[in-house]
Formats: sequence, structure tokens, C-alpha cells
Amino acid sequence: MKAEPKIELVERFFSGTGTTYDRIVKLCTLGFDAWWKQKIMEKIPRAPRRIIDQACGTGILTIEIAKRFPGCRVIGVELRDEYLNIARRKVGELKLGNVEFLLGRAEEILLEGSFDCITSSYLAKYADIDLLVAGAAKMLRSGGTFLAHDFSYPPNTGFALMWESYFKLLRILGDWKYPEWMTVFAELPEFIRNSDWKRVLVGCLEEKQFCQISVESLTFGASTVISALKKPSASFLEYSDHVARDAAQKGSVAVFE
Ligand SMILES: C[S@@+](CC[C@H](N)C(=O)[O-])C[C@H]1O[C@@H](n2cnc3c(N)ncnc32)[C@H](O)[C@@H]1O
Repeated sequence: MKAEPKIELVERFFSGTGTTYDRIVKLCTLGFDAWWKQKIMEKIPRAPRRIIDQACGTGILTIEIAKRFPGCRVIGVELRDEYLNIARRKVGELKLGNVEFLLGRAEEILLEGSFDCITSSYLAKYADIDLLVAGAAKMLRSGGTFLAHDFSYPPNTGFALMWESYFKLLRILGDWKYPEWMTVFAELPEFIRNSDWKRVLVGCLEEKQFCQISVESLTFGASTVISALKKPSASFLEYSDHVARDAAQKGSVAVFE
């Protein structure tokens, strides 16, 4: 699917859902969303100074990151202002001074400066992955971490049958109590089934300047976190080698974060 139809799809899926999003994501993932986001948090490098959270939505992950790393500047990027307004309000209420938000398409917002980490949760299947990875390669520092999490189709047939039935139940819930979510409940299963975001993302990371690519399957493959490091440049490797040798001569240890 080309980028523009994906943006239209995002608009169709999420229009009018902002006020119930936080409740729905918790309820519909049976609480696993919080655990999946913890898995992302665990992979953020130590003592980060600058992080971008792409497709930050209502700011659930952005806020977790900002609270965990108060010394880090966290920038949430989001396509739709309906969600971004909610994120801004939450950050204001929590009086978090280390967060800012930008409205726009994650693939197109290229920020100056070298970031320690770029995160996203539930963006990859909607994104132009080639552009997203090219942008990450520009914005990350040498050795910086790229983390993308999203739903994936469970590979086990038995679990996949349960997963399909669960979405049927969600459609009943939508019909009864959350009509604004009916489009998502009806169309998301097929979209996830047909999405090849994991394969495309790994391919793009391999092609660009990334190494240590890891694909972690969570909750029987119902979701996946992919992480990778931007390859340190030759000059950084030379520099770190020099510092490490110097430290060894002085009997100390060089730490690169
Ligand atoms: C399911 S929500 C996830 C929000 C948040 N990351 C979370 O985990 O709670 C998906 C969000 O991605 C945003 N989105 C989709 N495609 C995007 C893109 N290309 N650039 C920026 N945001 C995008 C949507 O507007 C929506 O708010």
C-alpha cells in the first residue's frame, strides 16, 4: 500500500477515537499494551539525552519515557492533532518539562541533532518504512537505537484462531459500547494479516546503516518489537578505540553511552 492511502486509512481508523483511545488500547490488548511498552523501554540505551517517539498518539509511551528519563528531551511526533491535543493536555497536567510535541508525518519530520533513540509503537504497519528508516539513519547518533513495535499476525494456527475470534468479540463490544471503534475492529485483523511490515523493516535496516538487528516476538507473536543500532561511523570507531587504549594505559575504563 502506498503512503497516501495509508494516511487516509489512519484518518478513517482514528477519527473521533481520541477520547477513548487510552481505555480501548488497554482493554482490547487485555493489558498487554503496557507490557509491550515496557519491552520497548527496556531496550532504550542508558542515560539518553534526546529521544523521538514517532506516532506518539495520546502520548502513553512518550510520557513513560519522559518520566523514566527526566534528564532526557523527549519529542513526540504525531500525524493527527486530535490525539496530539490529548497528549499535550496530559503532559501539562503532569507538569513534565522535558517533553515537546510536533504535528506531522513521522517520515517527513527530520530533526537536527543526533538522537540517542527513536521509538514507535503501532506505527510501522501504517508507515512508508523505507522513508522512516532513511530518516532514522539521518537523525540517530552513531550507535543510536531504533525501536519499532507493532501488532503482528500470530504464526501458531491455534492461537491465530483465538486471535480471529477475539476480534469478532471486539466487534460486538464496538457495536454495543464504542461505535467510534467499529471501523478499527472490523478492518484491523485483515490489515494485520496482510501487513509485511516486519520483513520490509528488517530489509530496510539491513540496507541502510544498521547493525545488531533483533526481532522479538511477544505474546505468541501477536506483537513484535524490532530493534537495531545505527552502525558507528569509521571515525567514531577510531575515536573510541583511541579513548579505550588511552584509558587502558591509565588503568581506567572508557564508557560509551
Ligand atoms: C494506535 S495509535 C498509537 C499511539 C501511540 N504510539 C501508542 O502506542 O499509544 C497509532 C497512531 O499513529 C499515528 N500515525 C499513523 N501513521 C503516522 C505517520 N505516518 N506519522 C505520524 N503518526 C502516524 C496515528 O495518527 C495514531 O495516533
